Amino acid sequence: MRISKAIIPVAGLGTRFLPVSISVPKSMIPVFDRPPIHFSVQEASESGIDHIILVASEGQEAILKYFDKRPDLEEAVTNRKNPEMLELLREIPDMADISVVIQKEQLGLGHAILQARKTIGEQDFAVLLPDDLILSNRPTIGEMCSIAEETNNMVLAVREVEEEAVPNLGIVNQGNDFGNTVEVLGMVEKPSLETAPSNMAIIGRYVLPAEIFEAIQNTPPGSLGEIQLTDGMIALLNTFDCTGYKFTGTHFDVGTPFGMLNASLHIAKTQFGFDLKK
Ligand code: G1P
Repeated sequence: MRISKAIIPVAGLGTRFLPVSISVPKSMIPVFDRPPIHFSVQEASESGIDHIILVASEGQEAILKYFDKRPDLEEAVTNRKNPEMLELLREIPDMADISVVIQKEQLGLGHAILQARKTIGEQDFAVLLPDDLILSNRPTIGEMCSIAEETNNMVLAVREVEEEAVPNLGIVNQGNDFGNTVEVLGMVEKPSLETAPSNMAIIGRYVLPAEIFEAIQNTPPGSLGEIQLTDGMIALLNTFDCTGYKFTGTHFDVGTPFGMLNASLHIAKTQFGFDLKK
């Protein structure tokens, strides 16, 4: 089945980004000159996904407004003879159709995904977490959609991480390694270092079958007392094979100030030749 819809959860409290996240949604805190949500929607759009469902909380209007047409700004940059910015301003609202569903309580990533059930219907779909910025020539979620369409497997983005990151992430138990993909035999959400099956972590890109909704519905709270997407996927492993995609792009966790700074410096350097002045 062709993947045409993606869920982007943005309702998280942003506790790793306090105090700015008191009033600015985390997915709007810029990486260089644009918010993480821009990169996620662009990646989905470049992968042929034309309908995005944002799972947001009350008061996050700033995120939706970012995708509004802005004739006033278009006129201002035209007067200032900035054709590149004019093109970008016109591109942003056209990247995808965006719907919003409201997550009233923040009960975990699995719970966030469940809020989009009605809008998705009986279709396979993609999930992108804006905290995980992946800069790549070929959009990572598009590569994963191709694998899912070929195999009918669940597909997760995975990469090896430093030991200290293991207890903060979903970690997979790998089977056969096929080079750019691995067989995923099991997974565990935020394990201790001692119990972790590997250091191969789930990074925020997923292609999932509609059956995941039922699985999440039947999933009790897990790690951190939250309803975890990872636990829903574990339940589905009985019926679906799962592929880990070892993506090749450059990954940043932009959900923390240091990660965001790192990504911003990377973009400034690689795209604009910027160097820190001594
Ligand atoms: C979520 C997932 C986790 C995954 C991570 C990637 O965790 O639950 O399995 O490894 O995203 O960023 P969170 O960052 O919401 O704690």
